[in-house]
Amino acid sequence: MSFNADKKREHEAAAEAALCEKHFGKAFFHTAKAAEFGLKLAEQSEGKVAEQYVEDAYELLDIAEQLKEKARAQSREGLQRAKEKAGPDEDVSQSQWELKERPREKLIDVAGLEDVKVELREKVIEPFLHPEVHERFRLRKGGGVLMYGPPGNGKTYIAKAIAGELDAAFFNVNASQVKDKYVGETEKNMQRLFDEARKHDRAVIFLDEVDAILARRGNRKIGMVTQFLTLTDGLVETKNCLLVLAATNKPWLLDPAVLRPGRLGDHIYVGPPDAPAREAIVRLNMEGVPVADDVDYAAIAARTDRFSGADMASLCDRAKRSAKNRQLASGQDEDVTQEDFEAALGKVRPSVTPEHLAEFDAWRAGHAASSDDYGDD
Ligand SMILES: Nc1ncnc2c1ncn2[C@@H]1O[C@H](COP(=O)(O)OP(=O)(O)O)[C@@H](O)[C@H]1O
Ligand SMILES: [Mg+2]
Repeated sequence: MSFNADKKREHEAAAEAALCEKHFGKAFFHTAKAAEFGLKLAEQSEGKVAEQYVEDAYELLDIAEQLKEKARAQSREGLQRAKEKAGPDEDVSQSQWELKERPREKLIDVAGLEDVKVELREKVIEPFLHPEVHERFRLRKGGGVLMYGPPGNGKTYIAKAIAGELDAAFFNVNASQVKDKYVGETEKNMQRLFDEARKHDRAVIFLDEVDAILARRGNRKIGMVTQFLTLTDGLVETKNCLLVLAATNKPWLLDPAVLRPGRLGDHIYVGPPDAPAREAIVRLNMEGVPVADDVDYAAIAARTDRFSGADMASLCDRAKRSAKNRQLASGQDEDVTQEDFEAALGKVRPSVTPEHLAEFDAWRAGHAASSDDYGDD
């Protein structure tokens, strides 16, 4: 009996000490333990005394419950603080987002999309290559460019190629990486990203899948949109050259305010490849691969209307795999044949639909009509 009473008192004292130190986890543990020994005391007692012990134990359990909640909140705060502490000082953003190694891809490796490449050279690459010429003609250097179009047609690939061409710091960010479930954290991440980029004389921030953070939400501007407008204000006037390149598969989700001049003001449509571009993608994918003479690239391109760039890449992959399997079975060198492509053509379906393309046309039309409107915000 006295053992249990002693233990109960010990744990109560330990709980109080823990509370003084605001160590709620520890306080919770000792309070629950005290309740446990209280219930043991009740078992060894009778009548009114037993009742008193039980009541006392339940009171302790109530307190323990509240302490548990506090302990949970405390560890959440701790995590958050640790995250903030690891913030700007330790340059997490740089190690996380800045590309340290140039991709090997160049714009020339992007098949087709000739107009897109011309536009990108003028708007994205030249300002970095010849800033003095741009200055001489008082042309803007920085700014924002949005690439939009159905998925799988090379937006991300193009951004990589641009990074491969440019002698500028390149920040490669998928918007879902800066997005944080905690209130205000996304804004902090974005701030860090822009701060880091502005430290360089020449920098490109590539925001992939940008709709994840700059979508419109009814009539209410979300925090991110407002902040983006602030971050990009003065993008064009800054001494150094900072360019924001963004990509989205769903431009209609974006808040119109971010699409105005000075922000993501230039819009470049990256559509599905036409037949010559599809042929180029197949040739690109078959480079260095043993291909039989009977493979008819032009015919493959002609039969793949509405295939995206990614569909074409996957078609080539299938053809290569079937040749590889043949070689493993026969034990001798095999080439990729037209028949391998025929089999692949029977499997891969075009991922771009006319309805989908119509959506982009509609957005472009509606947008062209309203893009001169410098309206509110
Ligand atoms: N024009 C192209 N030239 C070469 N490869 C392409 C082209 N378009 C797409 N691809 C291939 O398809 C893949 C997916 O394209 P991606 O850039 O991820 O599309 P998006 O970002 O527009 O959704 C690329 O990694 C590349 O292999
Ligand atoms: Mg992409």
